[in-house]
Amino acid sequence: MERAEGATVTSWTQTAEEEEEKPEAPVRQQRNTSGNASRARWRSACPVRKRRRRRRRRRRSGCGSVPDRDELLIRLEASETRRAAMASPEQMCAVGRILVDPQRALTERFRALFTLKNLGGPDAVTWISQGFSDDSALLKHELAYCLGQMQNPAAIPVLTRVLEDREEEAMVRHEAGEALGAIGDFSVLELLREFCSDPVVEVAETCQLAVRRLEWLQSGGGGASNGGEAYTSVDPAPPVAEGRSTAELRAALLDETLPLFERYRAMFSLRNRGSEEAALALAAGLRCGSALFRHEVGYVLGQMKHPSTVPALRAALERHGESAMVRHEAAEALGAIGRDECLDALRRHRGDGERVVKESCEVALDMLEYENSEEFQYADALLRLNGSNPDG
Ligand SMILES: [Fe+2]
Ligand SMILES: [Fe+2]
Repeated sequence: MERAEGATVTSWTQTAEEEEEKPEAPVRQQRNTSGNASRARWRSACPVRKRRRRRRRRRRSGCGSVPDRDELLIRLEASETRRAAMASPEQMCAVGRILVDPQRALTERFRALFTLKNLGGPDAVTWISQGFSDDSALLKHELAYCLGQMQNPAAIPVLTRVLEDREEEAMVRHEAGEALGAIGDFSVLELLREFCSDPVVEVAETCQLAVRRLEWLQSGGGGASNGGEAYTSVDPAPPVAEGRSTAELRAALLDETLPLFERYRAMFSLRNRGSEEAALALAAGLRCGSALFRHEVGYVLGQMKHPSTVPALRAALERHGESAMVRHEAAEALGAIGRDECLDALRRHRGDGERVVKESCEVALDMLEYENSEEFQYADALLRLNGSNPDG
């Protein structure tokens, strides 16, 4: 699911990160273009801009990627500005009501969810948090995923509750743990360490990864994105430093004696490489031992959308005894790739006995419809509300 909406964020407006990265024009140039010196002074005194300058200074000094409170605040301010420009409180409520209405089609609720995620802000967090009372594990895991990607610390309490709830499905608890790591707030480190030995292996492994990611950030990790600019997702591990061949990355990915965090780093490096060789290396990971690892490979292949991986994804979806979490990601990856050959498999499993797989196929077919249509964005709940979508 996560891959289709990535493109949508950019179609709405620039992302918070892009906004942060945008170089400021020198003051003299601002005067030239606006002819207004007082505006230039305001821009230079503006607290948000001051924080951005401080952040760039920190980057130059080599420790710029640690998401301290300052940085989280910048992200929130940027997303708040974006939200206010795009939707009124009434529209936000209308989209939220679609999300939490169990009578609505799941596909419609997913589109509402991604609309809220793209809008961001505290109201979006509140609406998304309300969805956890639903009985669809697929929907709930996606709610947790979106809260993590929004990186709003206001979501920490609800994600903590979900992670702690041992009655909750493993897939949902996993996504809550991963989201707590994605937000990048170090206050959750102790909590995540507690769950590193959870009896549910997918939850334990997720929390181990989240702890490693936060420790990596804490120690000043970051720097070059190593070709990942095409992907807007906040990933559970950073790519490795440049200079390793695709064959070396493949070897690291498939080496089950290495720590999961190192193998994830190789995974995201291969994704960023984008070649067929890299895609096929990742597809080989669909036969590795950890279900969590295999599901992440499925997710990454959905982001890459490389047609050479369709046979491996179909095999994962159809494999007898495969974890539902993995089959779910394989289905959604096939939907994201959107080729004709993906359709048969998805249609065949639209009535799958495993609810999460069945619902994934429904959502994937909806995404496939989007990929093959003239619709310009998947997360279109606002457009539909406004009656401006020809399909609406
Ligand atoms: Fe996941
Ligand atoms: Fe998923």
